[in-house]
Amino acid sequence: MLLRNTADAYGSLSRFLHWAIVLLIVPQYFLAEAADELPNGIEKLQILNWHKSLGMVVLLLALARIGWKVMNRGMPGPIGEPWQRKAAAVGHGLLYLLILAQPVSGWAMSSAANYPVTLFGWFQFPALVAENHDLHETLEEVHEVFFYSLVTVTAVHIAAALYHHFVLKDGVLRRMLPFSRS
Ligand code: HEM
Ligand code: HEM
Repeated sequence: MLLRNTADAYGSLSRFLHWAIVLLIVPQYFLAEAADELPNGIEKLQILNWHKSLGMVVLLLALARIGWKVMNRGMPGPIGEPWQRKAAAVGHGLLYLLILAQPVSGWAMSSAANYPVTLFGWFQFPALVAENHDLHETLEEVHEVFFYSLVTVTAVHIAAALYHHFVLKDGVLRRMLPFSRS
């Protein structure tokens, strides 16, 4: 499999970035729920630091992914009827927006509460906004709404991928799978 995308398949870097982001997002919900159940203290902070660090990795990978997409513009070509191409473009656009907006809202939420955001304690990201209690509360809700939106759009996205694979039997899922040749 080539590094770059070709006219009819995703290259290895696009596939790696797609699946790495999926694998990092799944534990995010469970880490946040685990932290939510703990009383304030060191353990809660440690779990939240994992959540925040993994979320910042998602942000960095999402930025890399968008840069790589621009460098592979138009490839691979779309498959399907015009309405399906339009639906895929809207769905993928929303997914790109959400993998940026989800971590950025978390980062801003932590900044508004004057909590540091680090990458596993190795270095600290600058605060995105000044301390502000009301803004913190709002961003907490925004962060939650983004997550439900992400889950909803992803459910449709997965259904579409499975429909292509099992009903239409075209190569749409195969060209994004990590270990498939096409
Ligand atoms: C892909 C990235 C992320 C996903 C999918 C995600 C998802 C979630 C979810 C589902 C919750 C629980 C919401 C609730 O029901 O209250 C949550 C809470 C939280 N997230 Fe994230 N998050 C991400 C990134 C981040 C980042 C980058 C930060 C900060 C730098 C962050 C900070 C927080 C904090 C502090 C909470 C706890 C809020 C509270 O006190 O209830 N998140 N996140
Ligand atoms: C958090 C979960 C996910 C996110 C954020 C996500 C995001 C995306 C995005 C943004 C694209 C567009 C790539 C491009 O620019 O061309 C894409 C493509 C794709 N995704 Fe996902 N995805 C997720 C989960 C999944 C899952 C679980 C599956 C499989 C069941 C899947 C299957 C595919 C396929 C087959 C494509 C290629 C579509 C095509 O060739 O036109 N995705 N995904």
